[in-house]
Amino acid sequence: MKIKGQEYKTIWFENNTVKIIDQTKLPHKFQIKEIKSVDDAINAIKVMEVRGAPLIGATAAYGIVLALMENNERSFLDNACKNLIKSRPTAINLKWAVDRMYSKLKGVNSNKILNIAINEANDICEEDINFCKNIGMNGLKIIEDIYKKKKDTVNILTHCNAGWLATINWGTATSPIYHAHQKNIPIHVWVDETRPRNQGANLTSFELNEENIKNTIIADNTGGILMQRGEVDMCIVGTDRTLSNGDVCNKVGTYLKAIAAKDNNVPFYVALPSSTIDWDLKDSKNIPIEERNSEELSIVEGIDKNGNIEKIRIYPKNSRSLNLAFDVTPAKYITGLITEKGICRASKEGLNKLFK
Ligand code: MRU
Repeated sequence: MKIKGQEYKTIWFENNTVKIIDQTKLPHKFQIKEIKSVDDAINAIKVMEVRGAPLIGATAAYGIVLALMENNERSFLDNACKNLIKSRPTAINLKWAVDRMYSKLKGVNSNKILNIAINEANDICEEDINFCKNIGMNGLKIIEDIYKKKKDTVNILTHCNAGWLATINWGTATSPIYHAHQKNIPIHVWVDETRPRNQGANLTSFELNEENIKNTIIADNTGGILMQRGEVDMCIVGTDRTLSNGDVCNKVGTYLKAIAAKDNNVPFYVALPSSTIDWDLKDSKNIPIEERNSEELSIVEGIDKNGNIEKIRIYPKNSRSLNLAFDVTPAKYITGLITEKGICRASKEGLNKLFK
C-alpha cells in the first residue's frame, strides 16, 4: 500500500539486513529502521515497532535469519527461537512462523542453511500478501451486497489496526475495504481509537488517509450508539488468535463491539489468514492474554506545537491501572470469518469445511 504515494511493504530483507517501518513513530514521523540482529528483532516485537499478528510472525522469521547470520551454532538458533516465541504471548502467528522456520531448518547442517532460511522467511511474507489479498476479494462480496441494497455509502466499523501495517501488505480487516474502494464503492470507516496505544487513531486512520478512504476516529465506547442509530452497516475486525471452534481473540474491546453488533443486527465479521488459526488450543480460557505495562494507560504520547513527540501523565500518580491487551469474542457473536479460502461460519464445522 502507499505512503505519500509510494508503495511500501511493512518489512523487507535488503543487503543482509531487515528493514521495517517503525510504527512507534507513526503517524507523526515516517521512519524506516534497520534490524540487524535477532535481539533487535525481539526488541522490535516487544516495544511494538512492529505489531499485528501476521507482521510479528514475519519479523520472527527474519529474526531467525539474523540469528543464523550472527552465529551458526545450533544452540544459538534454538535459544533465538525460544526467545522470539516469548517476545509477545497472544498472537499465534509468532509461534506459527517460528515453528515453520524451525522445521524447515531442522536437519540442515550445510552452508546452504542461511539461504534456505532467507527463502522461507521471504515465502512467509509473500504468502501473507496473497492471503490478505484473497481475504480482500472474499470480503469485497459482502460489501458489494450491502452497497447493492443500500445504494449509498457503506459505513464500516473497525477496531485496533488490522490494516496493512499489521500484515505485510493489504491488511486483514482493511483488505476488503481497500478492494471495495478500488471498485469505486463509496466507503466510510468508523475507526475505534483503541486505547491505550491508539492503534486505530494512530495507524488505521493514517493508512486509510494515505489511500484516500473517508474515515472518522471515534472514542472506543461510541460504536454502540452509532449502531443503535443505524450508522454502522457492518463491523470488520482482525484477530490475533482464532480457535478451531471459532472463538476469536483480538484487541481488548472487540468483545463489547460484537455484543453491541448482535444487539443491533449489525453483521460482525472477523478477517484472518489461516496462520492465525490455533488448531491445538481447545478452550479460549487458556489463551495467554498479554498484560502490558500500566503506564500505557496513564501516560499518553503526542506531538507538541514544535513538532516534538512528548509523553505526558494523565492520571494521579498513585492510581493503579490494569492493562489487558486482548479479549475473546465467543463464536456466537460472529457473523462470519473472512479467510483467504472463503467466508465461513465461526465454528468447527465452518473452519473444517475450508481448511481440513
Ligand atoms: O497489540 P497489537 O497492536 O499488536 O494488536 C494486534 C492487532 O493489531 C489487532 O489485535 C488486530 O486486530 C489483529 S492483527 C491483524
